[in-house]
Amino acid sequence: MEETIAPIRKKESPLGQAKTPIPLTKIVKDGEERTATKVAEFDRVMGGGIVNGSITLVGGDPGIGKSTLLLQIGYKIALQNKKILYVSGEESAKQLKMRAERLGASCDGLEILPENDLGLILAVLDKTKYDIVVVDSIQTAYTQELESAPGSVSQIRECAYHLINFAKASGTSFFLVGHVTKEGAIAGPRVLEHMVDTVLYFEGERSHTYRILRSVKNRFGSTNELGIFQMTEQGLSEVKNPSQAFLSERRKGSPGSVVVCSIEGTRPLLLELQALVAPSTFGMPQRICSGVDNRRVSILLAILEKRGKMNLSKYDVFVNLAGGVKTEEPALDLGIIAAVASSFQDKPIDADTVVIGEVGLNGEIRTVNQMERRIKEAEKLGFKRCVLSLGNLSEIRGRFSIQLVGAREIGEAFNELFIQKGRRSETQGK
Ligand code: TYD
Ligand code: MG
Repeated sequence: MEETIAPIRKKESPLGQAKTPIPLTKIVKDGEERTATKVAEFDRVMGGGIVNGSITLVGGDPGIGKSTLLLQIGYKIALQNKKILYVSGEESAKQLKMRAERLGASCDGLEILPENDLGLILAVLDKTKYDIVVVDSIQTAYTQELESAPGSVSQIRECAYHLINFAKASGTSFFLVGHVTKEGAIAGPRVLEHMVDTVLYFEGERSHTYRILRSVKNRFGSTNELGIFQMTEQGLSEVKNPSQAFLSERRKGSPGSVVVCSIEGTRPLLLELQALVAPSTFGMPQRICSGVDNRRVSILLAILEKRGKMNLSKYDVFVNLAGGVKTEEPALDLGIIAAVASSFQDKPIDADTVVIGEVGLNGEIRTVNQMERRIKEAEKLGFKRCVLSLGNLSEIRGRFSIQLVGAREIGEAFNELFIQKGRRSETQGK
């Protein structure tokens, strides 16, 4: 059903109230600008902490852990003698109390307000000054000024508009929780993306333990920064060494498994990439990917067919980035191609080798950025070899103790990766 979207209501602006522009050099900054939560994974994603007077949208699938995260973060900040208001439109005060107790997140500075009516929420905020307010969720909040139902685009936008004005005037920071379904419905909280300062998405599979907090927009920090958490009985805990965690379930030596390195935000991450190539039972072979871009994989499969002489037309191909991380990093190309070839030929890839490289349409291996940082991470995790492009090899040759193996094109890389004799290509030692 199409929704008629009401315009945001604004009061008439009398000319006398027009502001005078200020030269940039004359603008005085406020004293304290950010509140660090001391949860390192969260602070990194926020760009160093919560900026006073900022509005952050926290999106994610229902049940992924948004309320849990914000309750825990609220508690951490409350411990620093700040006042936090958790406005809950979905759970009763008692439910929240139970959850907080389970999380060990109960303290005086964290106050709960079960309320959906925006007018009444703002009335509370007018009376008491809070440092941080969580509105869980923006879909359940509504203003009586509009007739449309809570959760409609008009209501979401109108409520957010009032809250943003309040935040900018008062210096109170807001977190707005928004449920976004996997299909990423355009209606709903996504309409807020351009209005708010920061957009975080909380991702992961509900059945898996890892949860990934990603900044997709941040007016106060870099984007695509990841924070990695683990859902436990006592709520979310930080994952301090994500590369190690993501590789912990790897079965070394199984065909179709390869270790790749992705740069997410400012941090290199080692990840296990898996491929499964199996005879197709239907006429139309399936290509199903999770964590990596479907179209990119299709291109890589075509390169593998044409340049690698592997006929995949009668096979289903499944590609999965283990752990629930999603990335479009081109540096994974060579890993994807190698994993598919490994599964197709049923030959395992050397388990101590990391594979890093972009693959061009002619099967050539291209250089990727920030190679030093990737190699450092591989060294830190105890890997012995890295297969990379010749271009990258010449940049960093001699700087690492890990063995670096350069390859020109995918065939050369395969010679180095699959456990077999007759290796021939430039290595660091030569
Ligand atoms: P929740 O924060 O309610 O999700 P959202 O607000 O995004 O809808 O998380 C609910 C899920 O998290 C629920 O399936 C149970 C799980 N969970 C735990 O595993 N451990 C915990 O300590 C808590 C509080 C929740
Ligand atoms: Mg919730």
